[in-house]
Amino acid sequence: MHEATTISDLRAWKAAGKKFASVTAYDACFARIFMEAGIRVLLVGDSLGMVLQWHDSTLPVTVEDMAYHTSCARRGAPAAFLMADLPFMSYPDAKEACASSAALMRAGANMVKLEGGLWLEDIVRALTERAVPVCAHLGLTPQAVNIFGGYKVQGREAKDAENLYQTALALEQAGAQLLVLECVPAALAKRITAALAVPVIGIGAGPDTDGQILVMHDMLGLYAKPPKFAKNFMAGACDVPTAARLYAQEVEAGLFPAAQHTFT
Ligand code: KIV
Repeated sequence: MHEATTISDLRAWKAAGKKFASVTAYDACFARIFMEAGIRVLLVGDSLGMVLQWHDSTLPVTVEDMAYHTSCARRGAPAAFLMADLPFMSYPDAKEACASSAALMRAGANMVKLEGGLWLEDIVRALTERAVPVCAHLGLTPQAVNIFGGYKVQGREAKDAENLYQTALALEQAGAQLLVLECVPAALAKRITAALAVPVIGIGAGPDTDGQILVMHDMLGLYAKPPKFAKNFMAGACDVPTAARLYAQEVEAGLFPAAQHTFT
């Protein structure tokens, strides 16, 4: 039996400079395998809309989908620190954000994750005040794919980088206890990670964030054309538990992500 992993552990890891791995999990079986492999931070991502449901974006995912998969993952990994995504348009204002978050927390999440920018400030504050821990997701936020015109690296222009930096500080100030940075230049991720007291988890954000996260299908090399920031850990493994352990070990040792997985 594992002792439950909490946000206090993640903060302690950051304070100690201990890198940690995280991965998505959408069901009990994989959640258990990843936890047993030493990955104690799991995300029920709305990426399930693409990797499980085979939509071409995350937009069709509902709160009911998220609650169902959160409850499955929780049963497989009772002691994991389990985050769950608030899906597209389930948090347009504080009231709906609270109702949607309640469904995910009741399903077993320890924290909800939401994508956006400065407009999230009031929502993050309202959720935190009402005992819903929040992870803010900045950079390439897939729910905004139609605004971005594709899945593109964010924060390359100086003004966009400054905007992301200021937004990260503001959302921490509003109560966010964790930050995910997706597909931003490594130097920007490094600056934000150093400035924030809360842990920062990167995906395509270079080697200097406190933690790393991958979609499990990318970590297991299930796609012919993986994104640049992904690595197929099955390539050096005979089974899924070994691949998951390799991933965790490479993150903890600072070996992943390497230069070829990183944006400038
Ligand atoms: O939905 C998801 O899987 C995510 C990760 C890519 C961070 O948000």
